[in-house]
Amino acid sequence: MAIAFDRGYYKQPFARLVAEYPAEDVYPSADFRVEWGPVFHRGRLDGSARVLIIGQDPAQHEAIARRVLVGTAGKRAQGLLKRLSITRSYVFINTFLYSVYGQGGGNRHIANAAIAAYRNRWIAAILKRGSIEAVVAFGGLANTAWQDWLASSAAAGHAPLPFRHLTHPTWPESSARTNAERQAAVTKLLENWNDGLRALKPVIQQPDVAGALELYGTAFVPGDLPDILPDDLPPGLPAWMRTEEGWADRKGETLLEKRRTIVVRVPKGVLPD
Ligand code: URA
Repeated sequence: MAIAFDRGYYKQPFARLVAEYPAEDVYPSADFRVEWGPVFHRGRLDGSARVLIIGQDPAQHEAIARRVLVGTAGKRAQGLLKRLSITRSYVFINTFLYSVYGQGGGNRHIANAAIAAYRNRWIAAILKRGSIEAVVAFGGLANTAWQDWLASSAAAGHAPLPFRHLTHPTWPESSARTNAERQAAVTKLLENWNDGLRALKPVIQQPDVAGALELYGTAFVPGDLPDILPDDLPPGLPAWMRTEEGWADRKGETLLEKRRTIVVRVPKGVLPD
């Protein structure tokens, strides 16, 4: 059986964009894990994307898969798109090309003109095809990134798009200390996402599948974590990287060792006992 795969950045303007990415002179290694390289996008760049989602920064799964939003946050985002009746016509980018390191790095660099200018080139390239019908920003920094785009001269040539600033998909994990707090935060996140669904579902003119809006309950259920499409990832990545949630961790006895090390574990059940 043929397995679809992402053919990469072989067409303009994306070939030029990935060749011209900002390096350590723009993203300082004190605040970004530049050693793992930039991660650019996930999804359709061929003018078929209907929804643009802006995330925050790549984490350990994204460093391995070389596409953004493939870990827990990515699977939750995929589930949100499914409730918008979008099963493949999406594109994700992040606010930052590199993983933020340490406290406050994101806030310190959100107003950086070179970072914003490069991100705005991506947004312009995605919007140029005219297929995007709605935009979502996950978290405050991504919201600032979108507002930055709107204030740029390049945005002037584009028609306004329906937009929602939604809570970041892994905010419950980053904000809660106990399991009870995490569950309460998930419920709050899903209330916020339901508001977003109510606003955005009616504006999607060309969904991938038909269906009335179904809102989230108070917790994620298994159907809310759909598999990532094979043609979202580079060729040859094992299927479990698309179907499983947590297969990579940063490990190390010291801060430096942890920064240098990502452990990837084939999930249980993939191999016979
Ligand atoms: N969270 C994000 O916002 N983006 C990613 O790529 C991964 C996690």
